[in-house]
Order: sequence, then C-alpha cells, then structure tokens
Amino acid sequence: MTTEFLLPTAELHLHIEGTLEPELILELAARNGIALPHPTLADLRAQYEFTDLQHFLDLYYANMAVLVTEADFADMTRAYLLRAQASGVRHAEIMFDPQAHLGRGIPLSTAVRGISSALASSQDEFGISTALIAAFLRDQSEESALAVLEELLAMGAPIIGIGLDSAEVGNPPSKFIRLFERARAAGLRRVAHAGEEGPPSHVWDTLDLLGVERIDHGIRSVEDSMLVRRLAADQVPLTVCPLSNVRLRAVDTLAAHPLPQMLASGLNVCINSDDPAYFGGYMGENFQSLVAEFGLDVDALELLAGNSIRSSFAPEARKAQLL
Ligand code: HPA
Ligand code: ZN
Repeated sequence: MTTEFLLPTAELHLHIEGTLEPELILELAARNGIALPHPTLADLRAQYEFTDLQHFLDLYYANMAVLVTEADFADMTRAYLLRAQASGVRHAEIMFDPQAHLGRGIPLSTAVRGISSALASSQDEFGISTALIAAFLRDQSEESALAVLEELLAMGAPIIGIGLDSAEVGNPPSKFIRLFERARAAGLRRVAHAGEEGPPSHVWDTLDLLGVERIDHGIRSVEDSMLVRRLAADQVPLTVCPLSNVRLRAVDTLAAHPLPQMLASGLNVCINSDDPAYFGGYMGENFQSLVAEFGLDVDALELLAGNSIRSSFAPEARKAQLL
C-alpha cells in the first residue's frame, strides 16, 4: 500500500466479528477443540462468494463458533487494530453483536471483557482511540434487544452507543422504536444500518422514528431525491462501505457504486470496511479501490477522511488532533 492513502481517518462502521480472518478462525478452532464444517483454509475460503446479505450473514454467524474465551475476543480485536493502524485508521468506533454470542451460550461478560480489554490499550499500542457500540440483530425481537440492552447497562459495559444490523429486508426500523427510546434515555449514542438492501423509506424511518445520529450504509437513499435533499440539508453522516456493497451485490460493480453521486449531492459520506475479513480488505483497500475506479483526487480523499473524523463520537479535543 502506498502512503498517499494513509490520511488519518476514523472508522465508524466496523463489525468486530467481521474482522475474523480465515487463518484466525482455524487457529481459534484448534485452540478451543472445535470441529469446523470447512476445516481447511482452502475449504473455508471457498465459502466467501456471496449472493446477498443473508448469504454472508449465514457464514458470519457460523464462524463466530470459534469465539469462546475472553482471550479469543481480545485476540480478534487486537488483530483488527493492527491492520487498521496500517490502513491509517486513528479512531475506531467498533460494533459487536451481543445477541449473536448470547445465542450460542457465551456470557455477555466474556465478549464485553475480551473486546474491551484490547480496546483499553489501543491508544498506547496502536495510536488508535476507540469506542464500543452494541449492535442489535434486527431479525430478532425488540424484546430480546431491550433485555440485552438492560443487561449491558446493569453490568456497566463500556459502550457509548447502540446500532442495528443483520437482515434489513422484512425488519423495518419501526420494529425498534422502544429500543432507541431506551438508549436515548440511557444517554447512549444511536446509529443504525438502513438503505443497504432495504428501501429509502427505511432511511426516512430510521431518522424520524428512531432518531439516529448516523446512518450505516444508506446507499439506496440516492433513489429518493427528497431524501437526498434532507440528508444533505442536515448533513446526516452516512458510513459507506464500498467493497462490502460490491461483495454483497448491493451494487453490480464498483463502477456502478453511487459514491460519486452522493459526493456530488453534498452528502456527508465517509468510507469504512464493514466486515473487512469477508469483503476483500480494510480501510486502505477500500480507498485504493475507489481511487483506482473513480480517480478520486486529494481534495476528495481529504473530504472523506475529514468527514469520518467530524462524524465520529470522539471527544472534540481528539477530533481537533486528527483534523
Ligand atoms: N449488514 C448488516 N448486518 C451486518 C453486516 C452488514 O454488512 N455485517 C455484520 N452484520
Ligand atoms: Zn455493517
């Protein structure tokens, strides 16, 4: 990777479980005595051709079986931070999926302590400031999400906010109004996936019914010109993940990605890797692909990097250091 892409950036859309590289999956499976359905690197890698979001999610959840101990969660998190550092990431807001671990019988405290122990030394070890966001699975019930949020609050989990992820189609924002009200009352920041595979109406409802502060993805917003005007007027941050959109076939090709149109419309977009172990790369590879495809100039790259820092939940003093 050349240094021209190493502008200081914030990564705001990153699922820590999506950073589990195939090599680490095999290593953790061996460490924990877990028999995998695809026991060799070649077998496992052959599973990474996705037809849509659900196809990816099936593998993503299955691979989590290797995460058993606090050390497993910490090792995964440290491996991400090392790669993010090499990609120019200086601040990372990291989502994890508590319900996905609880559903496999892993105590919340194991996931929370493992991830947060690695984050605690991130600034010193990697020069990356961090924050942790609990993402709730929209294909599960609101009652389940509320119960898990209460458990996180009761245990004093070091989360700064909540998110909403997993299967978007058929699971509209309106299902989670009480969850986001509870998070707001608890003083938590609020983000949600919307307009990845779902329609522009999901983006409207995520803003108006859930009161979120950032939209994760939001690429289908370009289908609705009124929505584009709203997003531009309010400078709502959109955490766009180009390589993810290609690999999950939300767009046919990178050339067909709406990023240039979003920038031209004055939207507040930033670049992120989403699930980098599954989609062909970290922040650096996402920027490199965009430069190769669209010939983004230094001004555009600086705008994208600046947007990521301004749209972060980092303390103002930290933002000032990075801008
Ligand atoms: N979209 C929705 N849910 C997810 C994703 C994604 O890209 N990654 C992990 N959970
Ligand atoms: Zn995502």
